[in-house]
Amino acid sequence: MPKTKRSKRYKTTQTNVKKPYEKSVKVNASSAGNSNSGAKKKSAANLKWFLKVYKGLDDWHIPIFQATQQYTKAKHVLYPGCDKHLTASLCFPLVVYVDVNKKLKPVFNDDSVLEWVKENKMYSEETKIKFLCQNFDSGFEKLASFDLMISACAGIVSKPCSKYIKPGGYFLVSDAHFDARTTFLRPDFELVAVYDNETSQFLTNKAEFAGHFHTLEGKPLNSKQVEESLQKPKARRSFKLQKEAMFYLFRKVKEA
Ligand SMILES: C[S@@+](CC[C@H](N)C(=O)[O-])C[C@H]1O[C@@H](n2cnc3c(N)ncnc32)[C@H](O)[C@@H]1O
Repeated sequence: MPKTKRSKRYKTTQTNVKKPYEKSVKVNASSAGNSNSGAKKKSAANLKWFLKVYKGLDDWHIPIFQATQQYTKAKHVLYPGCDKHLTASLCFPLVVYVDVNKKLKPVFNDDSVLEWVKENKMYSEETKIKFLCQNFDSGFEKLASFDLMISACAGIVSKPCSKYIKPGGYFLVSDAHFDARTTFLRPDFELVAVYDNETSQFLTNKAEFAGHFHTLEGKPLNSKQVEESLQKPKARRSFKLQKEAMFYLFRKVKEA
């Protein structure tokens, strides 16, 4: 995904967010300069890598995760296709991250990264982070055990992984890779909220979010159109949607 473009477009308007991470980087980087400390050097590099890519407390996802936490009260969260996006752990105490990329392992096992999360977390519980380095298409966790699953720019996560969400649990899903519109077709999920970037809140009233996943003709999106979305760029598709948002919140209303 064009991350820098999107970061600007969805830039948070919050101005009161503290930025202790800048200090943390300096502290760790100076420790890293110590010639007898190779391990510290690596540790600082992991923290820097994460902060560089996800911008620490300026990560534009944080208001979305906060609004999701407020609405769902989720504690136990699954994040397949996470990359090193562990800012989710600022808002949720127990997150299981899944990614096939082996290079991410050191980031999730790094004490300085975990310390950064603990310093900046927004809940009182202890932080628990688990990283599973594997393909999310293969089985990995207890079925129906998560309060919430996150899908962001990692393909169609919903198909292999929605079985891990407990009944009544939630699914925060972006439409960047059309996973949200794929979920919209499913009878086991109900759309309950649409993230409004202007207010950094979810629209939870059905009348307010009417028009999402509906064509200009007022018809709900169908499976052919979702397939077409995956195959053709927007300009070449045979339909247009009334409204589009970056993130949607679905609730699992029954087992598939
Ligand atoms: C574009 S990144 C998005 C990262 C993060 N979710 C975000 O929104 O910034 C996609 C990530 O999904 C991972 N991924 C893609 N397919 C996967 C699969 N089948 N199993 C596990 N990880 C996968 C990639 O390794 C990559 O780290």
